[in-house]
Amino acid sequence: MGLLRDLLMGRPNGIRSKLRALLGQKPASGTGAADGASQPVVEPAEHSLRLKVEPPRGVTPPEGFDVVLHRDALEAGKIVEVIVAGTAVAVANVDGTFYAISNACAHAEGPLGEGSLKGDVVTCPYHGWQYSVKDGSCLTNPTAKVKTYPIQIVGDAVCVKL
Ligand code: FES
Repeated sequence: MGLLRDLLMGRPNGIRSKLRALLGQKPASGTGAADGASQPVVEPAEHSLRLKVEPPRGVTPPEGFDVVLHRDALEAGKIVEVIVAGTAVAVANVDGTFYAISNACAHAEGPLGEGSLKGDVVTCPYHGWQYSVKDGSCLTNPTAKVKTYPIQIVGDAVCVKL
């Protein structure tokens, strides 16, 4: 077994071991990646970085609602995309009051949860259409509208109903 390991990984003081040391990798232990040292580092997505607080656990949402956020995860004046039962929803915090609208802009399905929020108006990051997060009305094109979703706060949990 030691010979096979040496053939595959190199001798303890061989060139492959020295190259691994130069690259900052741990030497082969013969047990694979049991200590996780050779696991790739996975950076969280940008969206994940914005939500620094996990949704509270142990909360029973009202019937038909899903817990989507901890209320401290989204500062006032911010909007974020969450996935509720496979559907992308944009949740906004307007001065401490939460609103939920479809994440898909009526123009070309731009991600409203990645837009900018000013007051109760979100601006689509793609072409700038603007919507009220309170009622989903479009300020740019009065014939357009996005769906709104009921929202309830249970303790620290922000809950959305599709
Ligand atoms: S996709 Fe939103 S403005 Fe075009």
